[in-house]
Amino acid sequence: MDTLKICVAGATGWAGSELSRAISDAADMQLVAAISRSQAGKTLGEAIGVTGLTTPILGTVEDALKTGPDVFVEYTKSDIAKFHILSALKSGAHVVVGTSGLSNEEYDEIDRVAKEMNRGVLAVGNFALTVVLLQKFAEMAAKYIPHWEIIDYAHADKKDVPSGTARELANRLSKVQEAKLEVPLEQIEGPKESRGARLQGSQVHSVRLPGYVISIDVIFGMPDQKLILRHESGSSAEPYVNGALLAIREVGKLIGLHRGLDSVMKF
Ligand SMILES: NC(=O)c1ccc[n+]([C@@H]2O[C@H](COP(=O)([O-])OP(=O)(O)OC[C@H]3O[C@@H](n4cnc5c(N)ncnc54)[C@H](OP(=O)(O)O)[C@@H]3O)[C@@H](O)[C@H]2O)c1
Repeated sequence: MDTLKICVAGATGWAGSELSRAISDAADMQLVAAISRSQAGKTLGEAIGVTGLTTPILGTVEDALKTGPDVFVEYTKSDIAKFHILSALKSGAHVVVGTSGLSNEEYDEIDRVAKEMNRGVLAVGNFALTVVLLQKFAEMAAKYIPHWEIIDYAHADKKDVPSGTARELANRLSKVQEAKLEVPLEQIEGPKESRGARLQGSQVHSVRLPGYVISIDVIFGMPDQKLILRHESGSSAEPYVNGALLAIREVGKLIGLHRGLDSVMKF
């Protein structure tokens, strides 16, 4: 069996270290390089506590790409992500993006370069299989129920609002239709913020409180009935591992940018 050579940028982070452990256990994958500025020079095993994991940690994408990965996983921060992704594409790697916060304009450029290089990019705002299912169920519901609102819950110190998952959901639902409002926002009496933010045709409310981890509700309302779809995550990065492994295995079959894990799942 051919093994896929993988480089993980952000391999020492909360999400990247959990994924790196799983890659190092996968018989069809070889973790050839890791990127972290603060741990450069160590082996990944030393940095994340895995005995025998000798993958080198490099401090820059240029050095990491010299190992010739087939698939580059971007799991760092939005300010450096585009540079990493374009560098990886130009080196001939396919790319899986887990990092949140890239703009649509940045994705347009990534798509252009991926097509020029004949390589695939799979960008997934949330790798958890249960979130992918919530998104699909919500898309089905939005075809039949024109009234909905999204509530995004997270721990008190999460700065970004709404969450990447809420943004991705609003984006997907906007392709079905815009949520209807019985009272238009300009006719609201009282503080308009009470109705949440209008994001791509959905009202989105972000709750940030101690005691919450990460969860999301999308509520569809009809006269005298409602449908509530809820997803709740625990505090570990484990829910994101299987989806990311699937993305790594499938991205080589793609050309250009594809968004959402459902691009490589059968429904
Ligand atoms: N798609 C999903 O399902 C999913 C799931 C979880 C998280 N995420 C997203 O994934 C990203 C990472 O989250 P996290 O919680 O794992 O973050 P984290 O724990 O802060 O880890 C960040 C990792 O990136 C590295 N890094 C940061 N800036 C870098 C730079 N300029 N150059 C090279 N390496 C850099 C860090 O190492 P050094 O600081 O040593 O460089 C570290 O290894 C975030 O955007 C988060 O929202 C997505």
